[in-house]
Amino acid sequence: MTIIDSIERMSAFSDEARAKSLSIGFVPTMGALHEGHLSLARRSCSENDRTVVSIFVNPLQFGPREDLDRYPRDMEGDLAKLSSIRTDAVFAPAMEAMYNERFETHVIQENLSMMLCGVSRPTHFRGVLTVVLKLLNIVRPHRAYFGQKDYQQTVAIRRMARDLNIPVNIVVLPTVRERDGLAMSSRNRYLSDSERRDAVCLYRALTAGSELVRRGERSARVVVQKMRGVVENAPSARVDYLAAVDPDSLESREEISLPVALVGAVYVGATRLIDNVTVEE
Ligand code: PAF
Repeated sequence: MTIIDSIERMSAFSDEARAKSLSIGFVPTMGALHEGHLSLARRSCSENDRTVVSIFVNPLQFGPREDLDRYPRDMEGDLAKLSSIRTDAVFAPAMEAMYNERFETHVIQENLSMMLCGVSRPTHFRGVLTVVLKLLNIVRPHRAYFGQKDYQQTVAIRRMARDLNIPVNIVVLPTVRERDGLAMSSRNRYLSDSERRDAVCLYRALTAGSELVRRGERSARVVVQKMRGVVENAPSARVDYLAAVDPDSLESREEISLPVALVGAVYVGATRLIDNVTVEE
């Protein structure tokens, strides 16, 4: 496994693979890797000749009062995990290499990035899309892999790829969960024992909502109320948003039609967690 910290060497790695007609799979991450990330890397290894994983905590996607400084970092542990699954290259650029002092160009998505998570994190998707576009330009993969846990992110990235004609296949894989259903997330490390017990309320709420929909309930208000009740039963949890939305446009619906995505964000103590489930026809 090669560890690459320069943009030039990363591009040269990809040029060489492409010159040999080898396919490149890419898994962008911010490190603190868990089974969710590893499932993406394993899939990439099974579908591509070369797999590149990036580790870069992107300051652009954190708001001024968010957790950039304390975001978990564990390069040694991450490299050990990746080397056990045949990753070919780890791209871990320095901050200054990605954003020089005159950096000023961003990808802005007018509507998608302002709804749901964008309401409480108004600059988040601008940061995500900008870094993902930069990484795609540097790595030039044939396929890029993302987890469904970050549902709005996957919709925004697919939209960016389509709108800007980026020649990459965006692959979205199912959320990997703990035994009790909590979606795996690097931020789960912030939870105290009692918060960890409460944290599963979001998945339970989404599951309760999806069961109502499956049984024929079509009023979004009724479904959201049900989900809200489940979250409010957990002492340390507070709803940021819960919604039933169109899976592509992310617009909220009053009358649910299938397929629908039930999406939510809750604060458990000071930690903000997101999750979603989709209900198909
Ligand atoms: O999902 C993440 O970990 C990040 O948003 C991503 C896609 C690596 C961009 O920094």
